[in-house]
Amino acid sequence: MYKIAIGKNLDIGNIVAPIAANLTKRCFLVTNSKVAPLYLKKVAGSLKKRGISVVSEILPDGEKYKNLNFVKRLYGSAVRNSITRKCFAVALGGGVIGDLTGFFAATFMRGIEFVQIPTTLLAMVDASIGGKTGVDIPEGKNLVGAFKNPLAVIEDVSFLKTLPPREMKNGLAEIVKYAFLDRKFFGILASKLDRVKRGDEGDLTGIILRSVQIKTEVVRKDFREAGLRRILNLGHTIGHAIEAASGYRIRHGEAVASGIVYETDFGNFLGICSDSVRKTVIEFVREAGFRPVEPDWGKIAGFIKTDKKVIDRKPVFVFIERIGTVKIREVFWRDFEKWVKKH
Ligand SMILES: NC(=O)c1ccc[n+]([C@@H]2O[C@H](COP(=O)([O-])OP(=O)(O)OC[C@H]3O[C@@H](n4cnc5c(N)ncnc54)[C@H](O)[C@@H]3O)[C@@H](O)[C@H]2O)c1
Repeated sequence: MYKIAIGKNLDIGNIVAPIAANLTKRCFLVTNSKVAPLYLKKVAGSLKKRGISVVSEILPDGEKYKNLNFVKRLYGSAVRNSITRKCFAVALGGGVIGDLTGFFAATFMRGIEFVQIPTTLLAMVDASIGGKTGVDIPEGKNLVGAFKNPLAVIEDVSFLKTLPPREMKNGLAEIVKYAFLDRKFFGILASKLDRVKRGDEGDLTGIILRSVQIKTEVVRKDFREAGLRRILNLGHTIGHAIEAASGYRIRHGEAVASGIVYETDFGNFLGICSDSVRKTVIEFVREAGFRPVEPDWGKIAGFIKTDKKVIDRKPVFVFIERIGTVKIREVFWRDFEKWVKKH
């Protein structure tokens, strides 16, 4: 298992130096044009203080750059800057930088070590954990990738101070998802929701820590998503379709929050959860600050049909049975269509 450090104002160099003790004291740090002016100097300075030299590569900011052209750019820059197999990469940024740098690290010279320093709430609780790396291709998001665990994930909650509210909300949706997977965490989050929404660093640290633990426990049991790991797709079957149908105008978190609400309503229609569970889920998502989007259901059905999770043409859903307990089920199209007609 790799090291995960979570806290405020962390001494990043001090955490990385012992972990990278057997490697060349030279790293290839990848970040983007938004994060670089905020944190590159601080992170690079902290590494240099521990004798680690830093070659940095600043990519443009945005999902549209998470593609093979920019991985190629990283390969070229790494070679020109004498990055060898015994050096390591560092991803400093949100999920886009983490996925892209992880994929670079998985493939450069047949694989080099890397460290994740996530700077968005979504990357802290989700994207940096679990070893999935990858890029988008014109045919779809995340269709090329590799499983590659980092040496360490270092989460400095102070980096969230500069994160826009919309991005905080994006990460909060995944935290809400974890709450529906773990009854105890549901109670904790419910009692701290207002402070978490306000960005209280103390409460956020605890909530991030527990979210990371929940994801880590699931991934440890099923790294390659053969079974259990699929519970992390709660809200994502309809959520991904909402995101894609909007041309990615609707953020992932908003889409997942809506996905959780609609999938629970569908589960209730199928008799999987009670009316009171349905009500609790809808109210909690609303209290967390999300309003379900009104999708075009014709388009949604089309996107679900082409989803990676559609096995033998039957869509797979993760349904909440009770708070803290979910069930993975393939459903018949005719049931989905019957339910959609209600809307
Ligand atoms: N590998 C996985 O398991 C996994 C899981 C979930 C999502 N993802 C991927 O993660 C990506 C989304 O990640 P994201 O939501 O972090 O998006 P992102 O990386 O695009 O970051 C969102 C925005 O916030 C900016 N930003 C980052 N840190 C900041 C900071 N501290 N202060 C101010 N601005 C900051 C970024 O530059 C960007 O503009 C997607 O590509 C998705 O496919 C991967």
